[in-house]
Amino acid sequence: MQQTTTVSGGETAPTQKVEVIFAPEQISIRLEELAAEIATHRFDGLLVVAVLKGSFVFAADLIRALHRVGLAPEVDFITLSSYRKSTTSSGQVEILRDLDLDVSGRNVLIVDDVLDSGRTLAFAKDLISARGARSVSTCVLLEKRTHRAVNVRADFRAFECPEVFVVGYGMDVAYRYRELPFVGRVVTD
Ligand code: IMP
Ligand code: MG
Repeated sequence: MQQTTTVSGGETAPTQKVEVIFAPEQISIRLEELAAEIATHRFDGLLVVAVLKGSFVFAADLIRALHRVGLAPEVDFITLSSYRKSTTSSGQVEILRDLDLDVSGRNVLIVDDVLDSGRTLAFAKDLISARGARSVSTCVLLEKRTHRAVNVRADFRAFECPEVFVVGYGMDVAYRYRELPFVGRVVTD
């Protein structure tokens, strides 16, 4: 059965129905597995780099799952932009806010929300490699299969995602829906 949630737009936006694609319980079970998988690689002095903004909820949950499996990563953030306000990629990736830390010699795990065209992840990977990281691994919440424009893969992935624009669990459309505890799709029909 298709589960939907009604999200009020308050005084400024219409009320919308959002169909649940990945439920909170499903996400949390999968994150424990993912953390255990990451832990088997025994990265020395792991540095987690969360790609903002979309990954902030995923990264927050993932680092606590990493803690539960005994890891103590350092965590930094980079803000990249490729999507702007629309739901299609502009093809250009820009650094809106850079890392604080020097990544040279570090084992870095890049954490992002969605792997779609691959441009964002490829950009982040190339940047961090070029700065002399010892190793660069990638971890995404969702992987879409079909729109890859560049050849990049996720070393760790929570879920394969249907080819729809998803929201919730940190991800937005025009700054909305980030607060939803599940990954879903805005129902327009
Ligand atoms: P890519 O560069 O095309 O791989 O796009 C990846 C970035 O676009 C991700 O980091 C997301 O922030 C964003 N993105 C791609 N698909 C979606 C979606 O369905 N919902 C929300 N954000 C998305
Ligand atoms: Mg993103």
